[in-house]
Amino acid sequence: MTNYQKINKLMERGRELLGSKYALLGGAMTWISDANLVSAMANRGMFGVLASGAMDGIVLSREVASTQLKTPYNFGVNIILMNPHLHDLVDVCGAAHVSHIVFAGGIPDKTIIDKSHSYGMRVFAFAPILSIAKRLFKHGIDALILEGNEAGGHVGSVSTMVLIQDILLNMKEYPIVVAGGILRGEVFASLLQLGAVACQMGTIFACSRESGAHPNFKRAFLQAKGRDAATPVQLHKKFSIAPVRAIANRATEEFVEKQREIIARFERGEISAEDGQLMLEHFWVGALRIAVKDGNVDRGSLMSGQIVQLITKEKSLSEIISDIMNEAELYLNNTVCSG
Ligand SMILES: Cc1cc2nc3c(=O)[nH]c(=O)nc-3n(C[C@H](O)[C@H](O)[C@H](O)COP(=O)(O)O)c2cc1C
Repeated sequence: MTNYQKINKLMERGRELLGSKYALLGGAMTWISDANLVSAMANRGMFGVLASGAMDGIVLSREVASTQLKTPYNFGVNIILMNPHLHDLVDVCGAAHVSHIVFAGGIPDKTIIDKSHSYGMRVFAFAPILSIAKRLFKHGIDALILEGNEAGGHVGSVSTMVLIQDILLNMKEYPIVVAGGILRGEVFASLLQLGAVACQMGTIFACSRESGAHPNFKRAFLQAKGRDAATPVQLHKKFSIAPVRAIANRATEEFVEKQREIIARFERGEISAEDGQLMLEHFWVGALRIAVKDGNVDRGSLMSGQIVQLITKEKSLSEIISDIMNEAELYLNNTVCSG
């Protein structure tokens, strides 16, 4: 055993599920979680997840191949369920022998879960309430991700703390990953003690040294406080939009304008609610690109979790991982009932 005797023991289930050294997922981040970052995570013992965002099958197959060239280790692919190329994307992953698929942006149906399993891939999905969590396991998913409202990017409306008590504590025997607002090793270890199989983080990795995000994007993160990472208001009851947590800037205001314009078209009967939601989704994907790739931190979206408050300097992946493991081990060694 290494120095990390206690935390290693707690990570056993997660390591088996993920096939990685650490029970630590680098959550998919559109435009950021590319072949470079994901392979760097995998090579350092984490489980990285490639973001397929708005990609089609051809683009994804290139990105998967490029990741596989850079690492011999497992990684996952995140697929947004409203992507019109959904089935192609699953086929691409299956043909490339990707080990895990993470479905996001909705609840996957049994057909797409079964299709992924037919390729031998493990399937992860998100659930906002206990009944959906149970249904997803009934439909055969291999692990559930609970992502609280304090996370960066598209979020549900319930906090990590509530999801832990509603779902994790009621389904301890199931493999559950917790995400949203996690950074310190003490919290990572405590969640594993409470029954989580692994933890997923995003915001911290967006500003890691290995992240290809523009320096302006990273700088904005290093300067922001938790209160800056907010979700814009929803303007119409019937027009439900997934809230997006991002550091408030001009893009946030433009999103509210865009929402107004789309709602007006919806009310005039020109577009369906689904079309409108897809248009808003495209707005975010485009705005995120402007910030991450072009470094325009005024007009682009700075999707970030509230944990940004704790991030004050750019660290390498190795530093981030060893800080978490050291904090976790120290915490477990100092806890009377650490097991
Ligand atoms: C810039 C950014 C982009 C993201 N894009 C995606 C995405 O494309 N798909 C997804 O499932 N989650 C996405 N997320 C959520 C992360 O995968 C992860 O679950 C989340 O960041 C964890 O919470 P944390 O930010 O508090 O660490 C994104 C998060 C950020 C910060």
